[in-house]
Amino acid sequence: MTEPNYQEFYNPKLVAIYNTVCPLDGYEKFYLEIAKKVSAKTIIDIGCGTGLLTCELAKQGYQMIGVEPSRLMLDVARKSSCGKKVKWIEGNALSLEEFNADLAIMTGHVAQFHLENEEWQNALKSIHKALHPDGYLAFESRNPVVQTWATNKKQNFTDWYSPNFRRKVVDPVKGQIEVWLEIIDIKDKKVTTDVHYLFTKTGEELLSRNTLIFRTREEITKSLKNADFSVENVYGNWDGSLANEESPEFIFVARRN
Ligand SMILES: C[S@@+](CC[C@H](N)C(=O)[O-])C[C@H]1O[C@@H](n2cnc3c(N)ncnc32)[C@H](O)[C@@H]1O
Repeated sequence: MTEPNYQEFYNPKLVAIYNTVCPLDGYEKFYLEIAKKVSAKTIIDIGCGTGLLTCELAKQGYQMIGVEPSRLMLDVARKSSCGKKVKWIEGNALSLEEFNADLAIMTGHVAQFHLENEEWQNALKSIHKALHPDGYLAFESRNPVVQTWATNKKQNFTDWYSPNFRRKVVDPVKGQIEVWLEIIDIKDKKVTTDVHYLFTKTGEELLSRNTLIFRTREEITKSLKNADFSVENVYGNWDGSLANEESPEFIFVARRN
């Protein structure tokens, strides 16, 4: 069985260490810049997880709406320092109302969790409705072309998947945790991995089986057009450089028509 279970968002033990394993690591600056650039006042953060970035933006004075399907992740967000400043919604893009928002964001590769094209297209349509005319949508998706599993090329720094690489993080409560990825299945553009979490102190190992879709730049551009967005820019990395074929990321900034 290769069905994903996304335990990292639903197992309390994994949700408790999420902020240690996935801290903000550079992309927040990019999104803070975008918010400033488009003079946003109200921002919707779709798939906001534990609300790390939602909170950063709330602290900067933006009116934030955080949307997240996992109640456990959302509970962490609600209890965080900005918990009371943000409107939290348990759900996904389809749960959005006509918020007349200036900007919608999907960070941490939330777009890649929308596995089916119809689901993705419906999410974009719903985001369109939640924005005010001329509102912006910004999100990132990893470039499929540079992935080692897709190209059989030699491993390079742009890879999301690094075989034999175990990342070590130290959680203030649980101590050292080793995290690594194992590819389980690749079908079409969908890659299923087991994310291994080894708690060094106790020897306990937990798994999260995740599936992500790697759409091409052209496919994402077309889907945005279908949902009545115009692509303003596609960046290739968090330094704000424009995307090319070898960029690790496609970071889309689109405007509602
Ligand atoms: C890798 S986390 C990123 C969390 C947060 N955006 C960040 O940057 O830290 C991906 C999040 O997307 C959420 N997610 C998964 N599928 C989703 C969907 N279809 N719609 C909205 N959120 C989704 C997960 O529950 C999880 O919290």
